[in-house]
Amino acid sequence: MATNRTFTMIKPDAVGNGHIGAILNDIIQGGFKIIAMKYTSLSDEIAGQFYTVHKERPFYGELVSFMSSGPIVAAILEKENAVEDFRKLIGATDPSKAEAGTIRNKYAKSIDANAIHGSDSDENAEIEGSFFFSAFERF
Ligand code: PPS
Repeated sequence: MATNRTFTMIKPDAVGNGHIGAILNDIIQGGFKIIAMKYTSLSDEIAGQFYTVHKERPFYGELVSFMSSGPIVAAILEKENAVEDFRKLIGATDPSKAEAGTIRNKYAKSIDANAIHGSDSDENAEIEGSFFFSAFERF
């Protein structure tokens, strides 16, 4: 399997609850290399653009408000089979269904505040990484 990249955000609930360090440790222990990283906040408008693919879904408004409710950590990660392996590391979208030991199982409390984002395809990983990082920031 070729080495490739995924994109993640540590979401406002996990940042607010003081889990940045523990989550980054899990990511590194999981074999991922951090290629680019930033601590920032999203406006409603920027969060809306990032999640525009979900704009017809009933929870879109809540998702956008939540993602702009506090700081986040955005990062591009590298590993063999990065997208699939990272989705395993973070666990199911609904933390009550996330396997023991996964990031969402350990740090998330609900489906609408689920601690972390992971890209769902190589194509989206590239789109999402480019959304947050300019070319010179993700060499
Ligand atoms: S996934 O992980 O993309 O396959 O899951 P999906 O169900 O398609 O969800 C898309 C994103 O919406 C978030 N989500 C929700 N937010 C608020 N309320 C509810 N009920 C809800 N259900 C799903 C989910 O966490 C996904 O965001 P990301 O940032 O990708 O985790």
